[in-house]
Amino acid sequence: MAGGKDHIHRYYSPNDLYNKIIDGLNKLGKDLSKITLDDLQPVDEFHIRGDTATRELIALCGFTSDMHILDVGCGIGGSTRRLSHETGCFVTGIDLSDEYIDVAERLTELLNMQDRVKFHATSALDLPYADNSFEGVWSLQMNMNVEDKLGWLKETCRVLKPGGRAVLYEVCGGKNNTQHFPVPWAQDSSMSFLVPPETFRDIITEAGFEIAVWNDKTDLAQIAFSKAQKPAGKPNLPILGVYMLVGEDISTKAYNLHRNLDEGRVSLIETVAVKPTA
Ligand SMILES: C[S@@+](CC[C@H](N)C(=O)[O-])C[C@H]1O[C@@H](n2cnc3c(N)ncnc32)[C@H](O)[C@@H]1O
Repeated sequence: MAGGKDHIHRYYSPNDLYNKIIDGLNKLGKDLSKITLDDLQPVDEFHIRGDTATRELIALCGFTSDMHILDVGCGIGGSTRRLSHETGCFVTGIDLSDEYIDVAERLTELLNMQDRVKFHATSALDLPYADNSFEGVWSLQMNMNVEDKLGWLKETCRVLKPGGRAVLYEVCGGKNNTQHFPVPWAQDSSMSFLVPPETFRDIITEAGFEIAVWNDKTDLAQIAFSKAQKPAGKPNLPILGVYMLVGEDISTKAYNLHRNLDEGRVSLIETVAVKPTA
């Protein structure tokens, strides 16, 4: 493991994930020599509103083909690849889970994108990069597992070039900042560190950023999870899905997220934070 908390790493450590995804693609009748980003999207974009949100963030980010972007907490790399595919930029994805990084690399080779998209297993709190290395940062729904948010954001700011933009799409807490568990990012409260949006904004600023964009997307998250119901009986899981990343109790996790959103315990923020030039 690359550092950080053992129980968080364990949560994001499925067995034999790459082969299970390949089995799923075969069951769906896909030709493995012609796999597309869309074919993988049910399993490789592990954040609220999946690829729809990724495309909204790409429209917001302003990243271009001459840039090298760092994806912090990239999971198995779905949005990492989409970002590179849509903008032409180079992306390096890092994640605490070496299992996810292994799958991210293998899927990227399957899609023949390895020249522009690379991965590295490491902690967001201790990045193995020099100061001012990247033109941009991209981080989708990782902060929930990070207790030391100031440490993470200072580290992010350190590796970003002055004037560079950090695009963050993050789950925050709410007015009632206690949550029902399990949720998609945590089996219990020992793995989840949510702060209300105002606190998150203050921490981003304290870490050295200026906020350029701040959008509350909680209403869209509520709509996305409005149909999540309390599961009864054996789960009816799709052939490919994010349950492959974090377990077959995904329906319970989705139902709890729905309750947390509706009860004001969880919110969803999209923000662009800029590292000042002086
Ligand atoms: C909900 S997933 C999101 C993955 C990816 N960003 C996506 O949208 O598909 C959260 C990810 O954060 C990673 N993570 C949690 N804590 C981390 C840390 N301290 N450093 C790096 N990655 C971390 C987990 O391993 C997991 O892959």
